[in-house]
Amino acid sequence: MTARFPVARPRRLRRSAALRRLVAETRLDPAGLILPMFVKEGIAEPQPVPSMPGVVQHTLDSLRKAAHEAVEAGVGGIVLFGVPAHKDGTGSAADDPDGIVQRALRELSRDLGEDTVLMADLCLDEYTDHGHCGILTPSGEVDNDATLERYASIAVAQAAAGAHVVAPSGMMDGQVGAIRAALDGAGYHQVAIMAYSAKYASAYYGPFRDAAECAPRFGDRSAYQQDPANAAESLREVMLDLEEGADMVMVKPAGPYLDIVRRVRDAVTVPVAAYQVSGEYAMIEAAAERGWVDRERVIIESLIGIRRAGADLILTYWAAEVARRLTSG
Ligand code: PBG
Repeated sequence: MTARFPVARPRRLRRSAALRRLVAETRLDPAGLILPMFVKEGIAEPQPVPSMPGVVQHTLDSLRKAAHEAVEAGVGGIVLFGVPAHKDGTGSAADDPDGIVQRALRELSRDLGEDTVLMADLCLDEYTDHGHCGILTPSGEVDNDATLERYASIAVAQAAAGAHVVAPSGMMDGQVGAIRAALDGAGYHQVAIMAYSAKYASAYYGPFRDAAECAPRFGDRSAYQQDPANAAESLREVMLDLEEGADMVMVKPAGPYLDIVRRVRDAVTVPVAAYQVSGEYAMIEAAAERGWVDRERVIIESLIGIRRAGADLILTYWAAEVARRLTSG
């Protein structure tokens, strides 16, 4: 008897780069990458964010230039976060027609027209002096329904300034419905909503709070963002957002929540986005800086993992860099 050798040899399809490329089940496409960008009021030069090497708070001018470059590189969209010069209890700069994000949206929509998808993060934490995502009751809790009225007004201001998509990230109950009604009431039926539906109370947002200058002055966000221990609850949040009129739904963070991305992808028929957040970015950049991981390979692998879990769209601070790398081969 001759020795029996395997007939099935999965290694046959791994033999060369060409074979591996041919049979790859998951592909990264620049068109599915969304670049989050920060724009700060009242600065003359872009300011680096120390905990996010390579990320800056932009001036209006540097934002226009960087947005242009990202679009040239082929990213699918950009999402704006504003850092206002003045903060107050109700976050009044958030829906001011001359607020920093509205000014940026007007300039970018004039520059870029329909060449890219212009999105605006819709929340109050960057705009309130206390750093919470809504307005407070006298006892210091976030007042859900009073906050909805603020979100409705911000949505209309962002739409009027040229946002194609608004992205509510405050995790108030009923926020998508309130925003949809306000947009429709103001004639913005075509402005879409990308809902941060399953957003966890995550320590991975740490570096973002430097970038957006929005760390809460007291307490944390666990009374409105989800508990990392829960999974089924994400499906409930997603379903509620869809009933209220969300056009796309998001899971956030991405890497530590790939099970949630998969469950959401399997449960809905709308596009699913996942947000690779500041802490995911910072950890890889920090390890790479020390030479502990191969930066380029780890970045791509982290994104492939998120796509493989089921995300159609990925928000990532590497969007422009990766898009450039993918298109230049
Ligand atoms: C809230 C918001 C946050 C992020 C996006 N939108 C911060 C928070 O909820 O505390 C985090 C993004 C990141 O960490 O990259 N407006």
